[in-house]
Amino acid sequence: MKKIGIIGAMQVEIDLLIARMETYENSTVAGFPFYTGTLFGKDIVLTRCGVGKVNSAACTQILIDRFNVDCIINTGIAGSLRKEIGILDLVISSDVTHHDVRKAQMKNLFPYQESFIANNRMIVLAQKACETLEVKPNYHFGRIVSGECFVSDTRLKETIINEYSPACVEMEGSAIGHVAFLNNIPFLILRCISDQADDEAAMSYENFEKLAANQSAAVVLEMIKMM
Ligand code: ADE
Repeated sequence: MKKIGIIGAMQVEIDLLIARMETYENSTVAGFPFYTGTLFGKDIVLTRCGVGKVNSAACTQILIDRFNVDCIINTGIAGSLRKEIGILDLVISSDVTHHDVRKAQMKNLFPYQESFIANNRMIVLAQKACETLEVKPNYHFGRIVSGECFVSDTRLKETIINEYSPACVEMEGSAIGHVAFLNNIPFLILRCISDQADDEAAMSYENFEKLAANQSAAVVLEMIKMM
């Protein structure tokens, strides 16, 4: 049977999932907590990687090496980079990339491509999960970009939009996708919008962090049910 790895960066992004697990054992590796157990009868390993790409990369490799997961879902919140993607809307990753790594470096020195493609079956499943929720959320497909900073500056936001044409920005997904790609493990990044990554982002984030984190986790719950 498949073992599903689920990663959230912050506690608020995994709280709902822990609460719904029927059983779990708790272990710690390199400071990351791993909850190994079941969710709707499916084998899952849930973990909290902390903020940023180094944390998420290290955690993803441990999830693969030590916990032998067959696929990885990253759930959490993000800043919108498209006008039509509003607060509490969901973004289902088509692909992910680092917005703070030069494109030439990605192409020539990393894995010879500009972005990491999310698994198509998981994309379809996430869409079905959104459609299944009692209160259907707005959802969008698109590129998710990550970098080592919270984007709360309209000028930086415009620069990232011009360079990458992304749907939203966060701080872990591209590294999770990168490590999953290196290990040939299917992955999906699912994010719910907490802010618009602009000059008002910090205040919006505070207001919507928990709601957005739970909305993303609610979609993951539906996905797991159907897996
Ligand atoms: N996560 C949620 N909002 C974000 C933003 N504006 N920038 C980076 N990560 C985020």
